[in-house]
Amino acid sequence: MDKLLIQGGVPLSGDVAISGAKNAALPILCACLLTSEPLQLTNVPHLNDIATMLRLIGQMGVEVTMDGNDGLILDSRGLNNPLAPYEMVKTMRASILVLGALVARCGEARVSLPGGCAIGARPVDQHIKGLQAMGAEVGVEHGYVHAKASRLKGARIVTDMVTVTGTENLMMAAVLADGETVIENAAREPEVVDLANCLTAMGAHIVGAGTDLIVIQGVERLHGATHAIMPDRIETGTYLCAAAATGGSVRLTQTSASYLDAVIDKLREAGCEIACTPNEIALKAPARLKAVSVRTEPYPAFPTDMQAQFMAINSVADGTALIRETIFENRFMHAVELIRLGANIKLDGNNAVVTGVPRLDGATVMATDLRASASLVIAGLIAQGETLIERIYHLDRGYERIEEKLARLGASVRRVR
Ligand code: UD1
Repeated sequence: MDKLLIQGGVPLSGDVAISGAKNAALPILCACLLTSEPLQLTNVPHLNDIATMLRLIGQMGVEVTMDGNDGLILDSRGLNNPLAPYEMVKTMRASILVLGALVARCGEARVSLPGGCAIGARPVDQHIKGLQAMGAEVGVEHGYVHAKASRLKGARIVTDMVTVTGTENLMMAAVLADGETVIENAAREPEVVDLANCLTAMGAHIVGAGTDLIVIQGVERLHGATHAIMPDRIETGTYLCAAAATGGSVRLTQTSASYLDAVIDKLREAGCEIACTPNEIALKAPARLKAVSVRTEPYPAFPTDMQAQFMAINSVADGTALIRETIFENRFMHAVELIRLGANIKLDGNNAVVTGVPRLDGATVMATDLRASASLVIAGLIAQGETLIERIYHLDRGYERIEEKLARLGASVRRVR
């Protein structure tokens, strides 16, 4: 199994290009299931989660043509197997995103229940509740969600909590439903807006994406379209944190600051100078960061997917920070690994108190989930000496060519077996 070996202590400097957003690409790949015409996508990141989703829809009958770069064409004319088997779903929870589109297009779907994952139980009851409101018959049999509807009907759906993939799944179900669907308490994440933009280009009628009230007028059919995936705001935020933590100075290109207000505000509060143009963000770090407290909330507030990275930067900042995780119940697994590198972190339920120490020391640590692994990379870049990160397949799920990008910024990072 691959490991990442980091020789810490080098301030990052230089330019790096940001890839397309994993969390926008995953639902948009599923959008191809809604039409028999080709969907052409660009800026699709090369990531393990994307490969998993392509395998999943491929075994349903979707033809995938890659252009050898970051573009691909999805043709679901031959869609004939509306099934997401356990073997695939267990490796990636986001597989549940096929459910809404399959029921809408095929009238039926069987999707394995995702079950728990490292960061929490993460049920899909809201996805099911919404489909039932649209008239689908939904049962859970032998670990599979089985949903059927000859044609879904528009409905008013109020989700119990803000759910990103839940909102996306229901939006995809609603675009081909009979009549109007209203999703209240909808997720406002930019990835929901990117999906809505792609569906609109395919002929869907969607108003309000990006607000908590989305109104969808169902249409008889959708057509092919071309869409460019938005830049990855979490990859962007992770590189900003890496530069900030190492006292570096970097320029991130092919990205946008407009989805990152909460993160950029916190980095400025920590003492970084940040300048933004429409497609670039430049950051210059102070000699030592100030501790900054964060509380995770749905967009536009501070994202849970940046919590682990901020724990890493706070571990060497001046002062004490309180980190509160309100979205997932078990998302502090990186804390014990950061402590192994010398961080001073006290955990109390969903709160972590991080008191900055003057330095971290390299050690062998283990990645437990995608963003935890990003925080360990940042910690490894700060630490004195060598840090060896095990189980970096977690990292490969969400960070494209990370060692190459970090090397461009001057870091000493090597993949070893
Ligand atoms: C998405 C993102 C993930 C991010 C998360 C929160 C993708 C592919 N993944 O995950 O990176 O960390 O949003 O921003 O976009 N919940 C229920 N019942 C449901 C649905 C959700 O109880 O039916 C709960 C979850 O357990 C969690 C909270 O709601 O506590 C938010 O989860 P949700 O927004 O659905 O996360 P994902 O969409 O899975």
